[in-house]
Amino acid sequence: MSSHGTPIPMQSSKCGPLVGQAHVPGDKSISHRSLIFGAMAVGETRISGLLEGEDVLDTAKAMRAFGAQVIDHGHGNWSVHGVGVGGFREPDDVIDCGNSGTGVRLIMGCMATTDMTVTFTGDASLRSRPMARVTDPISLFGATSYGRARGRLPMTIVGAKNPVPVEYATPVPSAQVKSAVLLAGLNAPGQTIVIEKEFTRDHTERMLVGFGAEVVTEHLETGTKITLTGQPELKPQDIVVPRDPSSAAFPVCAALITEGSDVLVPNIGLNPTRAGLFQTLQDMGADLTFENMREEGGEPVADLRAKYSPDMRGIEVPAERAASMIDEYPVLSVVASFAEGQTHMPGVKELRVKESDRIDAMAQGLRACGVTVDEGDDWWTVHGKRGGAAKGGATVESRLDHRIAMSFMVLGMGTAAPVSVDDGGPIATSFPIFEPLMNGLGAKVERT
Ligand code: S3P
Repeated sequence: MSSHGTPIPMQSSKCGPLVGQAHVPGDKSISHRSLIFGAMAVGETRISGLLEGEDVLDTAKAMRAFGAQVIDHGHGNWSVHGVGVGGFREPDDVIDCGNSGTGVRLIMGCMATTDMTVTFTGDASLRSRPMARVTDPISLFGATSYGRARGRLPMTIVGAKNPVPVEYATPVPSAQVKSAVLLAGLNAPGQTIVIEKEFTRDHTERMLVGFGAEVVTEHLETGTKITLTGQPELKPQDIVVPRDPSSAAFPVCAALITEGSDVLVPNIGLNPTRAGLFQTLQDMGADLTFENMREEGGEPVADLRAKYSPDMRGIEVPAERAASMIDEYPVLSVVASFAEGQTHMPGVKELRVKESDRIDAMAQGLRACGVTVDEGDDWWTVHGKRGGAAKGGATVESRLDHRIAMSFMVLGMGTAAPVSVDDGGPIATSFPIFEPLMNGLGAKVERT
C-alpha cells in the first residue's frame, strides 16, 4: 500500500543511455526543518525550493495544527508565520505524520517542553518504527509518553510544565534523535547538551545558528558535543533549500549502470555529513565528477556529472562512513551488483529500523533478481559482476519505503528483464517527480 492511497505497481525496463540534466527536488531534511524552525521563530520565514513531497506536506499540516500560519505561494515558495519558542498551541486533533520519521521525531522534540498533550500517529510503516529513542531523552526534560508496546505509535505525549535542561549521549547514531533533544532544549532554561559518538547530519545545528540560537559544536576525541542555550528568541529567516543529495543518488547511480549514459545533476548540497555515497562510488571506480564546486548559504555545493562506468569494483565501505550515507545504502547495493567482486557494508544496523528493514528488503529483492547477498545483524555483502549480476524479471515489495521502490526502478534500467515493484506510491514522499525526471533522461519507468 502506498502511504496515502491505493498501491501503484510500477515497472522499469532496460533503457538506452540516460542523457541530460536532472533537476532533483529540495532537500527533505532541510525542508522539514525550515517549516518547524520557522514555526518556532517570531515573524515571517520565507522558504524557496521547499520539497513538496508528502512527508514535508504532513509537517506543514502539523505546524498549522500547532498554531503557525503556513502558506503555500506556489512553485516551492512558502512562508511560515511563527509563534515563537514555547508559543505552540495544543492541536485539537491527532497529528498524523504519514510516512515520516523525521517529521514525527522532530515535532515530538519541539512540543516536549511545552505544557500540552499531543497524540501522534502515522502510516503502517511509521507505526512500526521505534520511538523510545526520542521518548527516553524527552522524559529527562519532564515529558511523559504513552504509546503502544515497544514504544510504537500511536502515542500521546504530555509536555513538561516546568522543563529542566538535559545532558544526553545518544545511544544510536541518529540526527533525528539529536535534533529532537536540541529542539526540546529550546524551551528549557539553561544549557542542553547532546553528545554523539558518530557525527550525524548537522542541519539542525547549522540552521538553529542561522535562526539566532546559540549552538556550540565541539569535536572531541570521544565524540561530538553540542551545547544549546535554551529559551532564545528565534529570528525568522529567508531560506533557499538546496537540492537533495539523497535524491541525486538515484539519477547518479542509474547513469553509472546504464550503457552510454552521461547525466549532469546540478546544484547538489555536499555537506560532508551527507556526501558519503559519492566518495564511496568514486572509491569503486565510478566516473563521477564534481563540477563548478562552490559555496552557497555556508554549504559546499557542486554539479555532479555521472557517466556509465563498466569497470567498477566491489569495495569494503568504511563503517565510520555509514552515518554520512545512511539513506543511500539501498541504491548503493544496486550499483554494487554491477561492480566486479564483493561490496561489504558493515556498521549499518540502523538500516533495519528505517521506513522498512532496508537490509532485508533489498536483500530479498536482489536475490529475487538473481544476485547473491549475504547479511548479518549490522552488515551485508552484495556479490557483484561486471555487466551486472542481476537478471531482473521479478516483482519486489517496496514495503511502504520510497527508497526501496526507487532503488529497484534503478536496477531495472540495467537488467535484461524488467524489474517491478508492487507499489511505487511511497516515492511521492520524497521524490514526487521521480518518474518524469528519469523518463526525461531516457529511462523506461511505467505504471503497470
Ligand atoms: C534524517 C536523519 C536520518 C535519515 C532520515 C533523515 C534527518 O535518520 O535516515 O532520512 O533529517 O534528521 P536517523 O536520524 O534515524 O538516522
